[in-house]
Amino acid sequence: MAVSIDRENRIFTLHTKNTSYQMKADEMDVLIHTYYGARIDDSDLSQLVIHCGRGFSGNLYENGKGDRNYTLDVLPQEYSCFGTGDYRITALRVKNPDGSQACTLRYKKYELSQGKYSLDGLPAVYADPGEAETLSIWMEDPFSHLEVILRYGVLPELDIITREAEIVNRGGSPVVLKKAASMNLDIQYGDFDWLTFHGRHTMERNIQRTELEHGVQAVGSVRGTSSHHYNPFAVLCEKNTDEDKGGCYGFSFLYSGEFLLETEKDQISQTRLICGIHPDDFSWTLEPGEAFQTPEVMMTYSGSGFGQMSRNFHKVIREHICRGEWKKKRRPVLINNWEGTYFNFTGDKLVSMAKDAGKLGIELFVMDDGWFGKRDDDNSGLGDWFPNEKKLGCTLKRLGERINEAGMQFGIWFEPEGISEDSDLFRAHPDWAVRIDGRRPDLSRNQLMLDISRKDVQDYIIERLCSILSEAPITYVKWDMNRSICDKYTKGLDADHQGEFSHRFVLGLYRILETLNRRFPYLLIEGCSGGGGRFDAGMLYYTPQIWCSDNTDAIGRLDIQCGTSFCYPVSTMGAHVSAVPNHQTGRVTPLQTRGRVAMAGTFGYELDLSSMTEEEKEEVKRQVEFFKKHYDLIQYGEYYRLRSPKEGCSVWEFVDEEGKEALVTAVYSYVISNSPFVNVKVHGLKPDAVYRVQLLKNEDTDPWFEQSELARDRILSGNALEQAGIVIPGAGKDYQSWQFYISLLEEQE
Ligand code: GLA
Repeated sequence: MAVSIDRENRIFTLHTKNTSYQMKADEMDVLIHTYYGARIDDSDLSQLVIHCGRGFSGNLYENGKGDRNYTLDVLPQEYSCFGTGDYRITALRVKNPDGSQACTLRYKKYELSQGKYSLDGLPAVYADPGEAETLSIWMEDPFSHLEVILRYGVLPELDIITREAEIVNRGGSPVVLKKAASMNLDIQYGDFDWLTFHGRHTMERNIQRTELEHGVQAVGSVRGTSSHHYNPFAVLCEKNTDEDKGGCYGFSFLYSGEFLLETEKDQISQTRLICGIHPDDFSWTLEPGEAFQTPEVMMTYSGSGFGQMSRNFHKVIREHICRGEWKKKRRPVLINNWEGTYFNFTGDKLVSMAKDAGKLGIELFVMDDGWFGKRDDDNSGLGDWFPNEKKLGCTLKRLGERINEAGMQFGIWFEPEGISEDSDLFRAHPDWAVRIDGRRPDLSRNQLMLDISRKDVQDYIIERLCSILSEAPITYVKWDMNRSICDKYTKGLDADHQGEFSHRFVLGLYRILETLNRRFPYLLIEGCSGGGGRFDAGMLYYTPQIWCSDNTDAIGRLDIQCGTSFCYPVSTMGAHVSAVPNHQTGRVTPLQTRGRVAMAGTFGYELDLSSMTEEEKEEVKRQVEFFKKHYDLIQYGEYYRLRSPKEGCSVWEFVDEEGKEALVTAVYSYVISNSPFVNVKVHGLKPDAVYRVQLLKNEDTDPWFEQSELARDRILSGNALEQAGIVIPGAGKDYQSWQFYISLLEEQE
């Protein structure tokens, strides 16, 4: 059993293979948190929770007037409430019918069940009944009868615990939720840093490590989406934690809208972390009997550094969040015309691009923005999802057939949530755009958003998309979203309910995506929001891959993909080889390096092959072959960050789960004269087995290299590779890359 329950003492211990999590309903019926970390037995760890009076920290009335020791203000709790003596950041804040904001949650009962709970209309980790257990704990405010059900999903093999809270109004009058976080984690002891992932358009998910000091530190989004600017993912870690050692807790929010991830180091240096929907833009009225469902958070603990934490998340995302046919099916190598043509194309041009690509082994052609309505730039046409047959020179169906005749599958770009003021849709339904009557809305990319918090608008999009997807042979959709939302207001709700808009927008998005997934199970949907502006575990439930960034520069991508890999697996990161000089940075990098970097994602191209030389095309062909050959290793293998891009030479490794083969890739960000050698340890191999280590020949290999000792294969044991490692050749020029293929020769008995 993953969940062990001491009924008499009301202790709940959740066990995974390597971790344990414990809570207890104490003598005051408060659900206290006692432990999260490396696996332990079922010992009652509430002994670590010492009650002791703290000046200006109040005491529970029911504890007797003489006792000044029991105070919620420093007590580690499972779900903290605002307004009743816990002055830290709190998980739940309500407005009661009388206008007061107090809430007092007390333990009522629990229920344990096999399998993993799911959430209506929201993404959630899923598992077979034998793979997970669910513990539900009921809490209640004895005064207002507000009920909170805390759910814990335990996936023992994956070291993953999920959390969410359902809030039910069991009282007789409406209650307003002003903040309803998904989780609260209190860690009593220890001194932590935290890692957050900040960024901007074309430079997402930069890693920031900061010390937790007294006070509150937070990242979040009020942009309507999870955003380029902060990712809904964070790590709490011990001071000495690095890739391979030290304790760390990871928190990933399965939500694509406005979020807040906050920490507080309190008066006695305890750490509290809260994650949930951002409260600034949120309020939700619960009529008597109504319930509010918070989105889910998944957590993991690793006692052996960030690498293991990431691999835990990679596995759960690959196997228990991504769904449908594309979870296991080999995804096609694609070519997208965006950077190749932007808006300037014809149907014939696209077909010729597809033909060129088909000859090189590329399998899917994606027609990006500009194929519909009046859309020759980004100032008009959004919302008019009717093919521009004049521009395409034929119907969409015919275009799809022509692409198929070139031996390629056909994919298409949509931005269903957007609307241009200069569009027939806007002219017909100006009230469908998100804006406030009597105010001028802020434009971004010269566009507005469609109010998909409304069901009629959702239904319209569903109808339009389904019609297009049924009329042409389309097997792939790139689902874009190109602005942050402001001027939030919906005609679908009255003034008192406007605080529900942002969350209802996300629920609307999920409903549309769910409908498409069900109607077109063969469809591969790639998420996108100006690149990685909505790269979160919530989206991955509907779109198994997401365009990682509009920055296609291989060197810029090193940082972006490295930051992204802290939570998200390679199989989710859209990555393409593009032309040089790069369109975002002007940098000129070798084609080989561009290929190797894009191969640390869902590999594809985004350029006009007709402007390449025959030699370059041959190289593309070899890249595609190489990727297909090593597909399983790259997409399903274990991923190790061996050296950070910040160190000038970025190195990463894929190794299959059984340790039979590994691929190590190194990319130099710059060349240093007479540089020291780079040595990396190779992980995940069998210590006693013997391996062949091949340094793969580079496209531009100099004759000197062929003769050098570096070019010779080595025979080494897994143990030697793990402990002593390999040496990466230096860079002879900027942005040079190297690759080692390591394969099992023989296994020792
Ligand atoms: C966004 C996407 C790009 C491209 C353009 C098209 O910026 O991230 O990849 O699809 O929109 O307008």
